[in-house]
Amino acid sequence: MTSFSPRVFSGVQPTGNLHLGNYLGAISRFVPLQDQMPTIYCVVDLHAITAKHDPATLSRTTREVTAAYLAAGIDPKKAIIFNQSQVKEHAELAWIFNCIARMGWLSRMTQFKEKAGKNRENASVGLFAYPTLMAADILVYRATHVPVGDDQKQHMELTRDIAQKFNNDFAERIAELGLGVPNPTPSPELPDELFFPLTEPMIAGPATRIMSLRDGTKKMSKSDPSDLSRINLRDTADDIAKKIRKAKTDPEPLPGETDGLEDRAEAANLVGIYAALSGGTRETVLSEYGGQPFSVFKPALADLAVAKLAPIADEMNRLLADPASIDAVLSDGAERAGAIAEPVLRDTRRIMGFLEGR
Ligand code: AMP
Ligand code: TRP
Repeated sequence: MTSFSPRVFSGVQPTGNLHLGNYLGAISRFVPLQDQMPTIYCVVDLHAITAKHDPATLSRTTREVTAAYLAAGIDPKKAIIFNQSQVKEHAELAWIFNCIARMGWLSRMTQFKEKAGKNRENASVGLFAYPTLMAADILVYRATHVPVGDDQKQHMELTRDIAQKFNNDFAERIAELGLGVPNPTPSPELPDELFFPLTEPMIAGPATRIMSLRDGTKKMSKSDPSDLSRINLRDTADDIAKKIRKAKTDPEPLPGETDGLEDRAEAANLVGIYAALSGGTRETVLSEYGGQPFSVFKPALADLAVAKLAPIADEMNRLLADPASIDAVLSDGAERAGAIAEPVLRDTRRIMGFLEGR
């Protein structure tokens, strides 16, 4: 190999309540990439068991995320779509990465601190090691690009740290075995040849961080106890309209310029949502609605959201009525993903020095 070939990987957890943040920050951005380079989109069910989960609902939520991928326009003939647990190389590489990553690195992860809450002693070891599994997801395909929301930035930095340490710790061995790829961006911190790429996150556009509709300082999240805080991908048109009508705002009309959105978290959020749904920017939205009150903007936003999301919900419902065809997409995808991951793991084992005989 003369350099790492471009490849996209991303994942969404099957933990229920897929929402507008997942759609705008991640899933909708997966779609155009499938025409630009090889893409792999995973339903990360191994991540979904890091917090308490119900085995009776995991297959349903796994199919739901798959249906959302398909309904959003990901074509399983172009992209590889599969659930993580069907490709055992993810878990195997994650173990090796657990031995590369340092306790200190993982202790700094804000997502762990948030999810573990006050009772850290009682969090699962899996929740602590969550980012090493994420790094394995990405690097087992030597993926070069990862489209994600802003909340995954820190995990992406950790993924690069793991790749960097692996490349450095085993540089001699990688060279000896002839498994290195010339580093496309040479630096003093790295050897000339790498085994794992330093993967770039793709965090861009007006919707990298969609906020709760009830509190503009909190991220829209699957686990918020208030259903009014988020627009779920399978909400009805009435629910969507109601949630936007009830969304928290301030009494001022919309500003004419984006500067006027500073210190107005709720207004900024709704303008960002409108921009992302319409394929525009905050500037284009404000050039149309600047000076208008929320009594004008909210109904326009509700109409736009319903027009964009209702067809996706309908298509998800149609797909979910036939679980066998969803399962077929996942097993075909797992087969294709496994064929890429397997040789990477074989080389990784050789680098580590494991004796093989089976
Ligand atoms: P998760 O639901 O945690 O598996 O997240 C799946 C994807 O959605 C990731 O790329 C997240 O960064 C993205 N995401 C989750 N919540 C939001 C949000 N409120 N705004 C933007 N992106 C989000
Ligand atoms: N941690 C991501 C999230 O919570 C989900 C995820 C797991 C992921 N593995 C990944 C995202 C690999 C991108 C690439 O949103």
